[in-house]
Amino acid sequence: MQQFDSYIESNKDRFLSELMDLLRIPSVSADPAYKGDVALCAEEVKKRLVEAGLDEVEICTTAGHPIVYGEKIIDPKLPTVLVYGHYDVQPADPLELWHSGPFEPVIKEGMIYARGSADDKGQFYMHVKAVETMMQNGGLPCNVKVMIEGEEEVGSTNLALFVTQNKEKLAADVVLISDTSMIANDVPSINTGLRGLSYVEVEVTGPNRDLHSGVYGGAVANPINALCEMIASLHDAERRITVPGFYEAVQELSAAERASLAEAPFNEAEYMKELGVEGLRGEKDYSSEERSSIRPTLDVNGIWGGYIGEGAKTVLPSKAHAKISMRLVPNQKSDRITKLFKDHFEKIAPPGIKVVVTPHHGGEAAVTPIDSPAYLAASKAMEDTYGKKPIPTRGGGSIPIVALFEQELGLKTVLFGFGLDSDNIHSPNEKFGVFNYLQGIRSIPRFFHHYTALMNGK
Ligand code: BES
Ligand code: MN
Ligand code: MN
Repeated sequence: MQQFDSYIESNKDRFLSELMDLLRIPSVSADPAYKGDVALCAEEVKKRLVEAGLDEVEICTTAGHPIVYGEKIIDPKLPTVLVYGHYDVQPADPLELWHSGPFEPVIKEGMIYARGSADDKGQFYMHVKAVETMMQNGGLPCNVKVMIEGEEEVGSTNLALFVTQNKEKLAADVVLISDTSMIANDVPSINTGLRGLSYVEVEVTGPNRDLHSGVYGGAVANPINALCEMIASLHDAERRITVPGFYEAVQELSAAERASLAEAPFNEAEYMKELGVEGLRGEKDYSSEERSSIRPTLDVNGIWGGYIGEGAKTVLPSKAHAKISMRLVPNQKSDRITKLFKDHFEKIAPPGIKVVVTPHHGGEAAVTPIDSPAYLAASKAMEDTYGKKPIPTRGGGSIPIVALFEQELGLKTVLFGFGLDSDNIHSPNEKFGVFNYLQGIRSIPRFFHHYTALMNGK
């Protein structure tokens, strides 16, 4: 392992500049204007996988953005690790809030600032450099398959199809993903759960055209007023979600499980300070950490309608819109929740208001075991590099493909994330620590070695 560490140390400037080059490609999957850049990024990733020493490297085209795949099979009898990541990124807006260009990466105070630095280019590229490190220093201890997709941020619809149609190609013993965060640089942790997602867009229509708010106001239902009332009614006074049946399948944690999760350090005052809020709000009887990980939620992500230009225009708008996401926990089914929401939202429309609910992509929650050889290997690897045993925690974000890997390939995942919650993923000034990047590259080869050893012992 010493050999790996010194290889990483002597190549770290190149490892960083290669990542910076990748970050310069604006591979925004959601916006068709960037389709060419997404394709270019796939080409670049392909090149990097070849350079790292993988075989059978190819770009797999889909109905959407391409998937990049490569593998190194050293012996079919040895275990196989399937590494997954995504090279697509979220849109960069609002641009005016960035201190430097989202696609002009800079390193400031030990942080790499760029869209995608933490989510997920910086994190998947740790694996590419870890593979290179192993290949240049005696070879891999087991087999690896690497699959980097370009549609994670838009729901992985085409990857889901690809996985279903390529079960043999993707056959492995475990999935390894670096696309989550840990508690702090001096408090290593491993994410053991992801939430599911149901995402809908609602359109609320009142009169058949915009009206003068003096001539008609007061007599005709205003769709923006109505939408606000309807949205407000989706939580009760205890901040529980009022959609009938919403909690029916929710997996409640035992007191012991909750107590063990509560052992992870959490400083509420610092949390509030960092976010610039003077109070916190959420479901009664749950802690902030529980509310943002093991409990389901409902949030409005965007709301629009009516006049938002300069000055005042007196208008009673014809339409109002909102995008609403629900984070789900194990056992809640995304399709079921979407249907419950739709039925309820249509039902609570006041007289004179029509409602259309359109579902977007969704995904199921996932929990990962903490007693498997792969988890133990990840834990030992982090303990080696951080000098501390990582704490298992439950995360609040979603990576819908994780549940699909289990369903279609029968594989459990290890969420080997090296980012921090404060990395501003999906926000302006996204960043990833140089330290985190290098710790990831140091930890991954150790994972491969511990995992192979633990599997041999079986
Ligand atoms: N990497 C994130 C998910 C994540 C971040 C999990 C931090 C845990 C901690 C991923 O790229 C992401 O943003 N997922 C989306 C879901 C997707 C369907 C758009 C999300 O969670 O909103
Ligand atoms: Mn991600
Ligand atoms: Mn993301």
